[in-house]
Amino acid sequence: MLDELEKIKKLALEELQSVTNSDEAESFRIKYLGKKGVLTKHLKNLSQVPPESRPAFGRLGNELKQSLNKAISIYSKSSSVKKNTKLEDFTLPGESLKPPRRHPIRTIMSQCLDVFKSMGFESKTGPDIETDFYNFQALGIPADHPAKDMHDTFYLNPKGLLRTHTSPVQIRTMEKSSPPIRIIAPGKVYRRDSDVTHLPMFHQIEGLLVDKDISFADLKGVLEMFLHGVFGSNVKVRFRPSYFPFTEPSAEVDISCMNCDGNNKDCRVCSNTGWLEIAGAGMVDPEVFRSVNYDSDEWTGFAFGLGIERIAMLIYGVTDIRLFYENDLYFLENF
Ligand code: PHE
Repeated sequence: MLDELEKIKKLALEELQSVTNSDEAESFRIKYLGKKGVLTKHLKNLSQVPPESRPAFGRLGNELKQSLNKAISIYSKSSSVKKNTKLEDFTLPGESLKPPRRHPIRTIMSQCLDVFKSMGFESKTGPDIETDFYNFQALGIPADHPAKDMHDTFYLNPKGLLRTHTSPVQIRTMEKSSPPIRIIAPGKVYRRDSDVTHLPMFHQIEGLLVDKDISFADLKGVLEMFLHGVFGSNVKVRFRPSYFPFTEPSAEVDISCMNCDGNNKDCRVCSNTGWLEIAGAGMVDPEVFRSVNYDSDEWTGFAFGLGIERIAMLIYGVTDIRLFYENDLYFLENF
């Protein structure tokens, strides 16, 4: 009896392959599942099945009935399904779901935060929607300052904007607490920009340390330790003079290109310069201290801002930043 049932299953599944529309599905249903259908009739024979095989017979019979009904319902919903569509064996167990995994940007972000936390930095956050005051004015960028052009701001209304950097968290933190301060502020930032190396939304980590007798050497030490922690101790670090309205002196921080080590003549990653820009940094400008009522004779400090997507691109060898946000599973499953 059980063998017979297996045969019916095989036949039914074979025949199901040639069903292409709702009419054919209906005939198929009558043939197997109708009152006098092959399967219906066979399942009535339960009493003739030896007692020990009855559970298996019942289970197989029910499973087959269910899966045939399911297959038929697919056809009755769509009047014509493509011919030669291979139907699955509906009695097989379903495919198991893939375990969830972290987005690569999250992974890199938390690795970076761990390195700073190990150096005693505390994590702070600020709002994505900022005012002109926190995003610009308090950081030494008045309304008509040319540095505003660098930022390509998304304005929401005359007062609100999407923050263009995480530096406003420096001001918000100093307003609320007195020194010494040692914080990092991870978060999303927004700029009107989009190409292979720029996105309208990306992530930064801001760092701010304020204490007595802090010097540029401390800034160098902290950033070097961080960059060696993330990229390995072989990576070289250099500081180039630069300008930010809220730090003085200011620097841009580069690491040696890990793709070519500065030797390759055709390196696309560093455009043959041997160096990759990784952060903006500098000593907190006394004007910034004044705007939060800190005595700049007593306190000194440094600040820095790191781009996380940039770091992720270098670590994973990704050359188009936009890939991180296309939700392409083939890409994301690599991490
Ligand atoms: N906020 C700057 C930027 O986004 C980076 C920076 C942060 C520079 C802190 C100096 C100090 O470009």
